[in-house]
Amino acid sequence: MKFLVTGGAGYIGSHMVNFLLKKNHDVTIFDNLSTGKFINKNRIKFEKVDLINLSKLNKSMKNKKFDAVFHFAGLSIVSESEKKTKKYYLNNVLATKNLIKSMIKYNINNLIFSSSASVYGLPTTKKISENHRTRPISEYGKNKKEIEKILIKFGKKKNFKSISFRYFNAAGADESAKIGESHHPETHLIPKVLESVKHRKKNMYVYGNTYNTKDGTCIRDYIHVNDIARAHYYGLKKFKNRKCTLTYNIGTGRGHSVLEILNGIEKITKKKLNIIFKRKRKGDPPILVADCKKIFKELKWKPKYKNINTILLTAWKWHKKT
Ligand SMILES: NC(=O)c1ccc[n+]([C@@H]2O[C@H](COP(=O)([O-])OP(=O)(O)OC[C@H]3O[C@@H](n4cnc5c(N)ncnc54)[C@H](O)[C@@H]3O)[C@@H](O)[C@H]2O)c1
Repeated sequence: MKFLVTGGAGYIGSHMVNFLLKKNHDVTIFDNLSTGKFINKNRIKFEKVDLINLSKLNKSMKNKKFDAVFHFAGLSIVSESEKKTKKYYLNNVLATKNLIKSMIKYNINNLIFSSSASVYGLPTTKKISENHRTRPISEYGKNKKEIEKILIKFGKKKNFKSISFRYFNAAGADESAKIGESHHPETHLIPKVLESVKHRKKNMYVYGNTYNTKDGTCIRDYIHVNDIARAHYYGLKKFKNRKCTLTYNIGTGRGHSVLEILNGIEKITKKKLNIIFKRKRKGDPPILVADCKKIFKELKWKPKYKNINTILLTAWKWHKKT
């Protein structure tokens, strides 16, 4: 089949591209390389396209007849989204609107969108299901919620099908250690700590150790990036239905505290960390764990990477090499 991967030069998108190539599909990437880095492989078609530019996007989309589009392109640093609201709106909401317009213009109707657990805001239940209220507390989360709404609108009006996958914390790297996670600035716990270990920095700052959790630090649900890619692939079967506007959480349903992650990193890197506790940050929910019953049941998908230390090891192998 013929697929477009927007943001295919980024962390999760590049793993999706890898996954599709292994299944021998025809893959094209549209990416503006604002945060991503394209690693050339002979079977990938790459076009430098900024989704904000609709006429350029239309030129690139014309005559391609993709069977489906995996949409990873966007900006995703939560703290930055608070300061640069316009930039985030343009690159996330407007860019996605353009993508949908262009797809409809060229009769391409199947879209898989990277949404996020940030649409939920502060959880009111122990595990978060897709029916949980959506009250995002960041601009980034608001962008994702707005896009999901747009997809629902198009699903009702046109013959437009979509799946929004709400990822919890994407983590790890491909076993080949050729691609992995890197954002600038890096705000995600695992790559941040691994980079520090690599550069022999021992001090690790942990924001808050008085949360109402087993060890006082925040708990998150870490899902391996290749499990995310596989979930997207399983999602394709839903496009056979006449109508399709779906939402699924992607997580493991299990939470790990910040201290558990740091202990895991000490174990796999064989390096001792000097943990320094700092004050809590505003807006950090104590626990964010997915309820994954819906995706388990409807897509028959389950994570293959169940052990957090295995996930950490895949990430470490990549960081060591870069
Ligand atoms: N990493 C996570 O834990 C996580 C969690 C939930 C949701 N997501 C979502 O998944 C998607 C991918 O995240 P990632 O971690 O791989 O990010 P990333 O920054 O590594 O990749 C994003 C890619 O999109 C490209 N891009 C950005 N704006 C663009 C535009 N206007 N036109 C064309 N290309 C553009 C970038 O150059 C980059 O290659 C994002 O939409 C993000 O919000 C990520």
